[in-house]
Amino acid sequence: MENNHLLLEVKNLKTHFFLDEGTVRALDGVDFVIKRGQTLGVVGESGCGKSVTARSILRIVPQPGRIVDGEIMLYLPAQSNHSTLTNVVNLTRLNPRGTQIRSIRGCRIALVPQEPMTSLSPVHTLGNQIVEAIVLHQEVSQAEAREKAIYMLDLVGMPQPSRTIDRYPHELSGGMRQRGMIAMALSCHPSLLIADEPTTALDVTTEAQILKLMQRLQQELGMAIMFITHNLGVVARMTEHVIVMYMGKVVEEADVDTIFHNPKHPYTQALLKSIPRLGQRTRERRRLESISGSVPDPYSIPKGCSFHPRCSQRIVGLCDQEEPPNIEIGPGHKTRCVLYR
Ligand SMILES: Nc1ncnc2c1ncn2[C@@H]1O[C@H](COP(=O)(O)OP(=O)(O)O)[C@@H](O)[C@H]1O
Ligand SMILES: [Mg+2]
Repeated sequence: MENNHLLLEVKNLKTHFFLDEGTVRALDGVDFVIKRGQTLGVVGESGCGKSVTARSILRIVPQPGRIVDGEIMLYLPAQSNHSTLTNVVNLTRLNPRGTQIRSIRGCRIALVPQEPMTSLSPVHTLGNQIVEAIVLHQEVSQAEAREKAIYMLDLVGMPQPSRTIDRYPHELSGGMRQRGMIAMALSCHPSLLIADEPTTALDVTTEAQILKLMQRLQQELGMAIMFITHNLGVVARMTEHVIVMYMGKVVEEADVDTIFHNPKHPYTQALLKSIPRLGQRTRERRRLESISGSVPDPYSIPKGCSFHPRCSQRIVGLCDQEEPPNIEIGPGHKTRCVLYR
């Protein structure tokens, strides 16, 4: 029952960057939902808007970026015994520096970033940073927060947590830093964990360990995870439902089996032909051999379907003219492609 409950609903989200050279329409009408406890995979080539989607939800889009349209509705169970009550907040309406978003960010919605080193402060111990995050959102003493931090480090499989807690980030391996980030992200029991390419900076063995850890924690803690990756092998292993992004739009969405066995959008089909195997290193910038050409320059999104210049199945006179509608072709399966009209 619970799993059918909406947690996050993103509607027609548009986030643009206003540069001297022009406007980058990084998100150009993004729609998707995440249900409570669900693992949603977000895939697409580098530059398609995955991280900007995450940053928009957390309201940390950097200047000169701005959400210019759309809604991000967060449905939270009310903090009371009447658990049938739900509070709804439109995150796009909040002041990005206000108290409301700060009570949500890092607490209801937490982020595990790609490269933990840039998110951790080099001058504070790992423990102090986790303790600070706990004290910020929970009414506990410093001592209780420290105990909780050690507990969280233990939970994420950190070796010798009561010692590691007093280490500085540079004294830890990449895998340990990422475990630390996961411990910090989970310390407030978020309803939604956004993992933005959380294993890209790690070696293959550590990647496998971290993925296993996240899977275990998701089963134990029941939070929803938005798992961003350009690696379809990781998607197959980690997610239930998938959205495929191309140039700031969701071009296909379906449950993970359908995405792999019955993909409809030519872009999804091409992506699948270039699956990096789990454990195989891939550079995010690597070209997808099966897709001709490269992603167009982000200042000028092609007219019609933004994928048409690279699409082997394009219909001249149609795909280069009309924006394809979002077509429902099966239960929970939608695609933006005129071939299915
Ligand atoms: N700080 C920024 N300033 C200008 N453009 C940006 C900035 N961040 C992202 N973009 C642009 O937004 C688009 C989407 O980027 P991003 O979401 O980071 O892609 P990815 O899918 O690789 O995570 C890209 O075209 C990128 O150039
Ligand atoms: Mg990114």
